Amino acid sequence: MSEPILKVEKLNRFFGALHATKDVSFTVPEGQVRAIIGPNGAGKSTLMDLITNRTAPSSGKVIFRGEDITGLAPEKIVHKGMTKCFQISKLFNNLTVYENVQIPRIEMNRRTFRPFPVRDTYLKDEVVRYLSLVGLEDKLNETAAYLSYGDQRRLDIAIALAMDPKLLILDEPAAGVAREEAYKLMQLIRDLGKRQNMTIIFIEHDMDIVFNYADEISVLRDGELIATGTPDEIKENAYVQEAYLGGDLD
Ligand SMILES: Nc1ncnc2c1ncn2[C@@H]1O[C@H](COP(=O)(O)OP(=O)(O)OP(=O)(O)O)[C@@H](O)[C@H]1O
Ligand SMILES: [Mg+2]
Repeated sequence: MSEPILKVEKLNRFFGALHATKDVSFTVPEGQVRAIIGPNGAGKSTLMDLITNRTAPSSGKVIFRGEDITGLAPEKIVHKGMTKCFQISKLFNNLTVYENVQIPRIEMNRRTFRPFPVRDTYLKDEVVRYLSLVGLEDKLNETAAYLSYGDQRRLDIAIALAMDPKLLILDEPAAGVAREEAYKLMQLIRDLGKRQNMTIIFIEHDMDIVFNYADEISVLRDGELIATGTPDEIKENAYVQEAYLGGDLD
């Protein structure tokens, strides 16, 4: 058996008196698509922030590719191969699709930082390659702010891919996107993962998406990880049935 790419050990986080994650432990095998589900406030986003060290854990460990990365600076974690997808920041809204991917490529190439404007064609081949992965290669010069919402989500993913992740974490990647586009996006994410043996962890509320696109599902409730299993196993879970499925399966 190969080592899991990610191993989380007894992660706790307190916000004052609020115990947002409670002794959360789990592993994710390399190449898997893992969904994290649970009601609002269950601690899903906090857990992802602890894994990427955007929030420091109160206690516990994060082991990534066999290395203890607990407490490592978030940008160093990115260089180790773990990227969390962000919804586009306002800063990047005024830039073109092309520039939004060029910036992380400049960072990943670790070249000397150049104040803008950089040459238009700088790193062009690789930038276009990342945009092609998400189907945005024909929209290089469009301003990010004017893209459709679905295309903005695709651009988010391209920006994350430009950091060459081995593990890609997505917090509700299809939120706010129409159903058909949400399915296309999730299929794209899954295909990308399987093609490049990139592990994916995604948070999602829509159970149709979760059951269709996850290899395994982990369930959080009140900060506790209460179950991990395949879609078929999780469909049988008593809490999931009550909370999500109204006891009425399929
Ligand atoms: N920075 C913070 N300061 C104080 N409390 C916080 C902070 N971040 C999260 N919390 C609290 O921790 C708990 C877990 O929040 P979290 O955002 O992780 O939930 P979630 O499962 O992602 O919910 P949702 O499905 O609504 O996104 C909530 O009670 C939330 O109010
Ligand atoms: Mg959340």
